[in-house]
Amino acid sequence: MEFSVKSAAPGKQRSACLVLGVFESKRLSAPALAVDKLSGGRLSQVVKRGDLEGKLGQALMLHDTPNTAAERVLLVGCGPQDAFGDAQYRKALNRAVVALREGAARDAVLHLTELDVPGRDSRWKARQAVQEIRNALYRFDELKSNNGKPYALRGVTLNFSERRDVAAAERGAREGQAIADGMTLAKNLGNLPSNVCTPSYLAKQAKSLEKSSRKIKVTVLERAAMERLGMGALLAVARGTHEPPRFITVEYHGAQRGVAPVVLVGKGITFDTGGISIKPADKMDEMKYDMSGAASVLGTLSACAAMQLPINVVGVIPSTENMPGGSAIKPGDIVKSLSGQTIEILNTDAEGRLILCDALTYSERYKPDVVIDIATLTGACVIALGKHPSGLLSNHAPLAQALLKAGETSGDRAWELPLWEDYQDQLKTNFADMANVGGREAGAITAACFLWRFTKKYHWAHLDIAGTAWLGGEQKGSTGRPVPLLTQYLIDRCDN
Ligand code: BES
Ligand code: MN
Ligand code: ZN
Repeated sequence: MEFSVKSAAPGKQRSACLVLGVFESKRLSAPALAVDKLSGGRLSQVVKRGDLEGKLGQALMLHDTPNTAAERVLLVGCGPQDAFGDAQYRKALNRAVVALREGAARDAVLHLTELDVPGRDSRWKARQAVQEIRNALYRFDELKSNNGKPYALRGVTLNFSERRDVAAAERGAREGQAIADGMTLAKNLGNLPSNVCTPSYLAKQAKSLEKSSRKIKVTVLERAAMERLGMGALLAVARGTHEPPRFITVEYHGAQRGVAPVVLVGKGITFDTGGISIKPADKMDEMKYDMSGAASVLGTLSACAAMQLPINVVGVIPSTENMPGGSAIKPGDIVKSLSGQTIEILNTDAEGRLILCDALTYSERYKPDVVIDIATLTGACVIALGKHPSGLLSNHAPLAQALLKAGETSGDRAWELPLWEDYQDQLKTNFADMANVGGREAGAITAACFLWRFTKKYHWAHLDIAGTAWLGGEQKGSTGRPVPLLTQYLIDRCDN
């Protein structure tokens, strides 16, 4: 998909479709009014007939509007003008693309970017528009023998009323493309089945990032290296499967050598059966998404490289399957983590924290400025927050604030849960330094408390993306989250 940014008078450019906003109740936006004038009042006439009230989510395609250089005009409902904000802007964009992808228009000029979104500049509007459009056009049909007819839409022009806004909007559009490419990478990896997307496959995909940028260096450790290092917790999970584990690191050098990096640690369980504490069959297929944290790390690094951000970022990905093979760990088994702390594994389905704890200890070697782990860690987080925000827990308030803000800016939001010592008692056991589960209460928090014991040497935040990384049911598929949140956080670090 091609994007360009222009500042042209509405209705004067040749195109297959003009996209114009209409507020409730039947109030034409400024660009729509201009086209209405050109057409001798055609738009207001149509709207007056009552087919488009202007409610958010409505859309109406018109053909052959007089005196315009466009074949079609798509009117998009934007809701009440005084309630028009971030969410309404995104929704209107989404609705426009859903209408466009059904039709035959090969290109479109978008005037929704001219609408005022309180507190947002043209860079933000362009970035969000590109992301929203690319998101609505994503499909995963590479494994179908008859993949659907390609969409006709090839190019979108983002129009801005002020010429002075164009440069910033172009920058935003480039950022949007980089983020959308990162999300596409994350979605594809998530949607691939576990018989394709194995730990070795993830390693190969990571390796291929080296080709996209000279600033990226990828290292892959195999089982023997993990044994030498003493990653006893990660290796304990890997015992149950024939699929060899991988420990992947991706270094992006956008700043000078000495600048302390942001380390992103992504859970890379390519399939989670639960192990000996096996999961029920219902929806177990969705556990192919248990590597979504890893996928979001790769997507974010690819976006950083595309934007050439002037920072250092390291991705750390522990990856294995969680299977109940003959050598699998059993409830009650005790293992020694890379940190030296011992863990009694009371539930083999709490495997994410076992592979993450060794990755978190390993991350100390980068002398990080901050470490953020991203994991589909607990069903409890989905019960607590649903599928809208990711769960956020952190040992450093400024880092939590920065992530919450990046979530608001990108629309890929997180919500903070308390990381309090009070909960640590739930991980006590008579037989080891800690248990790997803390009972039914506050499951998302006790999982974070477990990880907290391995993050004492740096500023750290944990994102539980169990509810946000994919959708189930009819819309089953990876969301590419939280690539937008993470990328926005990194952009913000460079801007400030
Ligand atoms: N990958 C799952 C978490 C998960 C479950 C994400 C369902 C999304 C939907 C994780 O490895 C897991 O199994 N967690 C257990 C922890 C429990 C045993 C303490 C869970 O949430 O049930
Ligand atoms: Mn599990
Ligand atoms: Zn899991």
